[in-house]
Amino acid sequence: MASLTKAALLALAGLQGVNAWGVLGHATVAYIAQHYLTSEAASWSKRAQGILGDSSDSYLASIASWADQYRATAGGKWTAPFHFIDAEDNPPSSCNLDYERDCGNSGCSISAVANYTQRVTDGRLADDEVADALKFIVHFIGDLTQPLHDEAYELGGNHIKVTFDDHSDNLHADWDTYMPEKLIGGHTTNHAQTWSKTLIKDITSGSYKSQAASWIEGDDVGDAIATATRWATDANALVCTFVMPNGPDDLKSGDLYPDYYNSVISTIELQIAKAGYRLGNWLNMVHKAGAAKRTEGGVEVMGAIPLPDLLGRDLLPAPRPMSRAKLARAAMEGSCCGHEHD
Ligand SMILES: *[C@@H]1O[C@H](CO)[C@@H](O)[C@H](O)[C@H]1NC(C)=O
Ligand SMILES: [Zn+2]
Repeated sequence: MASLTKAALLALAGLQGVNAWGVLGHATVAYIAQHYLTSEAASWSKRAQGILGDSSDSYLASIASWADQYRATAGGKWTAPFHFIDAEDNPPSSCNLDYERDCGNSGCSISAVANYTQRVTDGRLADDEVADALKFIVHFIGDLTQPLHDEAYELGGNHIKVTFDDHSDNLHADWDTYMPEKLIGGHTTNHAQTWSKTLIKDITSGSYKSQAASWIEGDDVGDAIATATRWATDANALVCTFVMPNGPDDLKSGDLYPDYYNSVISTIELQIAKAGYRLGNWLNMVHKAGAAKRTEGGVEVMGAIPLPDLLGRDLLPAPRPMSRAKLARAAMEGSCCGHEHD
């Protein structure tokens, strides 16, 4: 692998479909977020990416799947656990998420959002570390709203073999990639932009207008763990109600298209819209908090308050022996099917 060029790696990733919500979903989330950024937060996020002066209207979408590409490299394998949290519940009869119980010893999507939120405005880090932190946040807030990224059962549905639209695949991949692409018709930048426009309209003046405020209610950059746990809990509940309401066996025979697809596609759209709206609001708040820190004189003035541990070790739950689900996950990590939790 080491001798593969970056372009070859990207091509490979595309072939294997190694892409979370899928490239389409993550780019759409980014376009929605970008629409809601304040101009200060927009120029801050461009600065963080080192692309100041870039007039491209895709500056967030273009980095939205970087975390999946990085994770697929030998050097980035260690970040695999950051793309999900394995809620060890019992779908479809009970869905619930418990950060202390479910976040693995080496972290999960929730601790990762908290860690990179802390890092993205910390004056002690080098530019490329700040840029990475931003790229991780943009991606993981997307992953958190995909219900099967908040579920341990059958490795988040990766091991539930199904048929969708005449293709044999697995339930996780259908939620990440194939059902969204069926709806939109492709996964190019244009497809993502078009989808984002529809969803922005729904948020601004359409069917989501009355609920959008509730998607971000209580969100607090000062308590990223609690905030991301709320997002994950919200998506995890959908595993019982929409993803497998009659249990997994019900999905293993027949084609998921059109009946199952029709029963879940509006939930997929809702989750993409939520992720975009939350991400936009989060980046606005992160920028504001960071700016406030800098105005106070940043690191020096904060002398009395202990600086956060940049490795975020205090964010993780107390170490504990690995459960069966965690052992199964560890055994799969970095290998497997290309539709591993991305
Ligand atoms: C926080 O991010 C740094 C840099 O990527 C990483 O080394 C560290 O393990 C992360 N900590 C957690 C808790 O995710
Ligand atoms: Zn991912």
